Parts: sequence; C-alpha cells; structure tokens
Amino acid sequence: MAEDIAARDPDDVLSELLFGFLGTQLLYVVAELGIADLIGEAPEPVEVLAARSNTSPDVLHRYLRALAALGVFAEVEGRVFGQTPTSLLLRRGSGSGWHEFAVVYGSVYRAFAEALPAASGSEIMFERATGVGWWEWLASRPDAAAAFNQAMQAGAHHRLDSLADFPWHEVGIVVDVGGGNGTLVAGLLEQHPHLHGVVFDLPEVAAAASEQLKETPVGDRCAVEAGSFFERVPEGGDVYLLAKVLHDWDDAAALEILQSVRGAASADSRLLMLESVVTTDADSRGTKLLDLVMLALVNGRERTAGEWRQLLTSGGWSVTSLRDGLIEAQPE
Ligand SMILES: C[S@@+](CC[C@H](N)C(=O)[O-])C[C@H]1O[C@@H](n2cnc3c(N)ncnc32)[C@H](O)[C@@H]1O
Repeated sequence: MAEDIAARDPDDVLSELLFGFLGTQLLYVVAELGIADLIGEAPEPVEVLAARSNTSPDVLHRYLRALAALGVFAEVEGRVFGQTPTSLLLRRGSGSGWHEFAVVYGSVYRAFAEALPAASGSEIMFERATGVGWWEWLASRPDAAAAFNQAMQAGAHHRLDSLADFPWHEVGIVVDVGGGNGTLVAGLLEQHPHLHGVVFDLPEVAAAASEQLKETPVGDRCAVEAGSFFERVPEGGDVYLLAKVLHDWDDAAALEILQSVRGAASADSRLLMLESVVTTDADSRGTKLLDLVMLALVNGRERTAGEWRQLLTSGGWSVTSLRDGLIEAQPE
C-alpha cells in the first residue's frame, strides 16, 4: 500500500524535500569513492577510510555521519563507521545495482540542476549541463557506460518475471531491440532451451553484450547485432522485445522506433514492451519520479495507458494486453 501522503505533517514534507538533494549527491560520492567496499566486517575509523579513498578525514566524516543519520552506514562510535544492510547494497558487484544506480544518478543530479531553464521545454537538461546527448556521452565514457549497463541489468530479473506467463513454447526467435548487455535475453534462453535470441543495440553496447554472452551457457543460441533502431531492426523475430526502451524517447522518436520494428516484423510477430503505465493513484509515484529522470536525461517520458495505446496504434500495432510492466501488441 502506498503511504498516505496527504496525512503527513506539511513541515516534514517540505523539509525532507528540500534536503533531498543531499541524499542523491552523498550516495553518488560514496559510490564513486567506493566507501562501502572499504569497510569490511569490522567498522573502520574515518581516518583509515579517508586515507584509503584519498579524501579529507573532516569532510568524509561529515558526509558519513549524515549518511548514518539517514540510515546508510552506522557510526558505531565517534568517527568509526560500520556497515548496515543498506550500505552493503552499495558495494560494487553486490548484484543489487544500487552502486551503479548511485553512479548514474550523479549524472541525473547534474542534469536536474538545469530544471528551471529547461522548464520552457526547449532544451534537454542533460545536454544543457554537458553539451552532449546522453547516449553520445555514454559512448565516450566506458566507466559510466558500464555502470549504466550494470544498473539496467540489475532490473533484468524483474523483467523476466513480467515475461514468465508468455507462451514461449510457440516462439522460435526473440529479438531484443535496445537489449543492452543481453542479460534479459540470456535469462529467457536459459529458461527456454528451444529458444534463439538476437540482441540489437548501439555498437559499443553490442560489443559489451557479445563479450558478456560468450561467458554464458546460452551464448551459442544468441546472436548480437549492432546498429541503430532509427535505421533498421533485425528481421525474422517471432517476438520483438522493447524493454525499457520507449520511455527513453519523446513521442516522435518512439513512433519512429515502433515503425522500424513494425517494418522488420512479419504479420505473425508479437511485440512485448516492458514499460510502466502511469496512473492517477499514489501507487504510480515511482513512475512519476522516473518520468522526470527520463525528461532530464533524454527528453523521454513515462506514459499513461491511453498514451501507450495511441502511440502503438500510430506505429502500426494493435494492443492485445496492457498492464503496468507489460504491454503486448500484434501488427495491425
Ligand atoms: C534503458 S536501456 C534498456 C536496456 C535493456 N532493454 C534493459 O531492459 O535493461 C535502453 C537501451 O537502448 C539502447 N539504445 C539507445 N539508442 C539506441 C539506438 N539508436 N539503437 C539501438 N539501441 C539504442 C541503449 O544502448 C540501451 O541499451
């Protein structure tokens, strides 16, 4: 059940919101410095952590005690910090994705500092902040790109759950368009030994997907193709997946992608989109916040059921099922 926002103390609501920016930035800083990796089983004095992370003991102490007050790390005695279940999730390679998300949100933070000038709607916040677009920026920064791809990968098991009820026994080839490092398709191929997959993504991402898939037991059943979905999409898919792809784009671009997939699909192909659906109730809060992250980074958007239907119809698809998390369609 979502918390009843209207019942909260108004001063608390405003105070938490005004201080909220600190949380994003502090998580970004400790992720970049790897503080959660520097603390083992035993708590560590801040002087040791500062020496290991090449930071000022005074500043690091103030960062960490604030984070401890917010529930991340524990100040077990003065200037000595230990782990909490929350801080353990911030370790590199914990598999939770939170370390990588904290790194990515450093970029979201910088972009959102441009929120006021961007309110006119004429500029993308991230481009205002950095001078380049998000995908171009990632392509030139392997560390940031790796963090982004790993953060996306952390959500793959939820996405697999959303796909569990689909009749995969009727499918020969699944094409994951904008498939990232291939984690989702690899999961599907592991569950369904008859299935073959194609991961399609931008060249740098496709290269990482090839490397990663080679290490999996399903690598020989999965092809990787590099390209842009604005130019082409691989043909021959019985199922086309668009997992968390269209929310990265405004309506005009999302329509182009849908038309591109439609051009590659046959009359019998199915489209499965793993996307959120914005509703008017409080349960949709996370999606409404993510909508702003999409706006800031790439001028993308989260969409209501009506907006999804309209977009898909314009793109040549007929919706067969629509719920939060999974939208299914077939060619019109
Ligand atoms: C939000 S990520 C989703 C990744 C993956 N589908 C998942 O569920 O984790 C969007 C993906 O779209 C890819 N992408 C962006 N622009 C693209 C383009 N023009 N052509 C193909 N893929 C693109 C990105 O590289 C990224 O992997």
